[in-house]
Amino acid sequence: MSPAARHALIERLPKAELHLHIEGSLEPEMLFALAERNGVEIPFASAEAVRAAYDFSNLQDFLDIYYQGMSVLVTEQDFFDLTIAYLRRAHADNVRHVEIFFDPQGHTERGIAFATVIGGIARALDEGQARLGITHRLIMCFLRHLSEEAAQATLDEAGPFLDRIDGVGLDSSEVGHPPSKFARVFASAHDLGLHVTAHAGEEGPPEYVHQALHQLHVERIDHGNRALEDADLVHHLARDQITLTVCPLSNLRLCVIDRMEHSPVKAMLEHGLKATINSDDPAYFGGYVNDNFRAVADALDLSAAQIVELCENSFSGSFLPEAEKARLIAELHVAAGAA
Ligand code: ADE
Ligand code: ZN
Repeated sequence: MSPAARHALIERLPKAELHLHIEGSLEPEMLFALAERNGVEIPFASAEAVRAAYDFSNLQDFLDIYYQGMSVLVTEQDFFDLTIAYLRRAHADNVRHVEIFFDPQGHTERGIAFATVIGGIARALDEGQARLGITHRLIMCFLRHLSEEAAQATLDEAGPFLDRIDGVGLDSSEVGHPPSKFARVFASAHDLGLHVTAHAGEEGPPEYVHQALHQLHVERIDHGNRALEDADLVHHLARDQITLTVCPLSNLRLCVIDRMEHSPVKAMLEHGLKATINSDDPAYFGGYVNDNFRAVADALDLSAAQIVELCENSFSGSFLPEAEKARLIAELHVAAGAA
């Protein structure tokens, strides 16, 4: 398949995005505009200078800048503007459904009210559904470098807003903060009827993927790259058809892989794993979901069938009802069949 034909296919196919940190969609231009609007000091002279600082050697390098960037988000309107900008960009990539992460502790720790954060995000999600036809789920992540008590307090604080929160996730600095640290909080979230997912195996060992499955009882694994190091784990993930939300450009920019040719996506598909393609933090890693598809499909010479399979996995691995998944997958196959 020629690169041009492959790119045309990627652009034409409907898809879902299941791994997107809304704060990671803060483009340097918006970061600058919001800093000015809110009178927040940032140590950069221009949007170009911000972009030039996005040179990371590992996850922590990125997280330090990511948390700093968040400081410009202050008002409900800021969270609305951030979220609607992402939805418009996703719409251009033929994204039909999004499952968005947000990091409330990154905001409440700075004195921003939970209601401000969720109010702006939820209003934009509603507008995205009404105006762009994009359906959504919202996933609240706990910052794993903070304590179990802080995570539980965040879950308690979310109580009044649970009508807008569909699931919980686990993100931030992975190594040294195993999933087991949050087993009790995830059990509480599960009891509240929330979906559960966790970042595991991005930098952390296969053992963390194992813990996410068996101690947090997650429905999906976010990233999951290092699961491939453990044959038993691969067998389990394949047998139970656990969706993996892989983020190729993120992996490259955070040095999880040294070249795109080393992305685990093709190997995952060949092992029968349910891999999906996602942008993670697109403003920081150089691309939205179709950029990720193009980069990984070109580097790994993915077939048309594999590209369609990745899109199908994004719908089947979503938290949508089965009937809605089936409707979107049927639409996908019509689009895939079109010349
Ligand atoms: N927070 C935002 N992006 C993240 C990632 N890729 N890994 C862990 N925490 C994150
Ligand atoms: Zn992530």
